Amino acid sequence: MKILMVCLGNICRSPLAEGVMRQLATQHKLDWTVDSAGTAGWHVGKRPDSRSTNTANSRGVDISQQASRQFTADDFDKFDQILVMDRSNLRDVLAKARNQQDKDKVRLLLDDAEVPDPYYDDTLFEHVYELIEQACIKIISSKSTLS
Ligand code: 4NP
Repeated sequence: MKILMVCLGNICRSPLAEGVMRQLATQHKLDWTVDSAGTAGWHVGKRPDSRSTNTANSRGVDISQQASRQFTADDFDKFDQILVMDRSNLRDVLAKARNQQDKDKVRLLLDDAEVPDPYYDDTLFEHVYELIEQACIKIISSKSTLS
């Protein structure tokens, strides 16, 4: 399974989703590829936001070595599932889809709810982490024979 997590800047939410999902896959001995990207290119090359890095660190997840990159249409070829954080990400990613097969790979990480953008609200990071972790546990549980 190859999973791409997508948010707007690829410095707050999707790096957390990448880190949590990769750690869970490793713990479940699943040979998954997990990556993340942003629909916007503003922060390309930057490390994750320190508020995300610190939140992840306190739960034993290291995201400090990730670097922001921008989502491109090539990602539809490289990944089986593209999991986005909110509906604006969904719209932006779907706008790059070339065909129905591309579109079928894309869905909200939370199925029918959004992971809120914490960039302008320091108090949201813990909540964002919890939402992402629960969603990733749900995905792993449905795919793994170990849990
Ligand atoms: P992210 O958060 O999409 O979760 O990485 C944001 C990061 C940066 C900005 C907005 C949201 N920004 O406006 O620069």
